[in-house]
Amino acid sequence: MNIAEDSLRRLILSSLKKRLLLEAHDGDGQIPAADSLIPPPNDVVKPHEPAKKTQKPKKRRTSTPLPKLESRMSDLHDKPITQPKYTLEEKREMLANLASRLEDCHECGVNPDRNRMVFGDGSLEPKVMFVGEAPGADEDEQGIPFVGRAGKLLTDMIEKGMKISRDETYICNVLKCRPPSNRTPSPEEAAICAKHLERQIEIIRPPAICTLGASSLRYLLSVPVGRSLGSMRGDVHDYRGIPLIATYHPSYLLRDPSKKREAWKDLQLLMRTIGLLK
Ligand code: URA
Repeated sequence: MNIAEDSLRRLILSSLKKRLLLEAHDGDGQIPAADSLIPPPNDVVKPHEPAKKTQKPKKRRTSTPLPKLESRMSDLHDKPITQPKYTLEEKREMLANLASRLEDCHECGVNPDRNRMVFGDGSLEPKVMFVGEAPGADEDEQGIPFVGRAGKLLTDMIEKGMKISRDETYICNVLKCRPPSNRTPSPEEAAICAKHLERQIEIIRPPAICTLGASSLRYLLSVPVGRSLGSMRGDVHDYRGIPLIATYHPSYLLRDPSKKREAWKDLQLLMRTIGLLK
């Protein structure tokens, strides 16, 4: 290669080099650093590959558990009554208002065909309040609690056993309306209606409560389902600061008179609690 050829080759190589450098410029006269020209691997979008959806972690579906039976019962049972003690006149007025509001109440839907709402009966300054389950046929006819066969036995228990007049007590039920065919009220029906019983207790504030049968005991003390009435007898329980004694329902005593002896023990405990017996 002669000198002329060599010079020509150098010229061509140098102009090629310049061209390559110019093509690598980013347009503002700066030469980009080599690594900025290589797209980072994450930015590489392969053709035809659909972008992946970001998947949220799957939540496990859990059904809301129904409240347990006992939690649908009174949630007041361990809360002391905060209302003031009312005068006889105030009690009369408040109870009359409550009763008149319930005259046309069908909130729990237990029996749209019932005849009478059975609110309660007796002294507003009672020696004891008896609480049964729900009115039966006779009560539904007359609008007064415990006036049928079971009612006659209850009256005997009070008058012949405790030696006080039925008029010195107050008698009512958890449900104010008769369930069809006297069936046991469901916990839902009881929970709806029993708020009126709770109000009755707040207004009357009896010195003691005697529950007749399992329904009223279960409701007022929120007794767990597995616990029997038998295991709750014989003790003085507490309902919001009021002593509560449990005994058998008079209807049960009519079916099984051998249990009357046990019921008599309960009445004696009740009498001791309210000062009728030493
Ligand atoms: N049984 C009850 O529980 N209440 C009544 O009033 C009558 C029968």
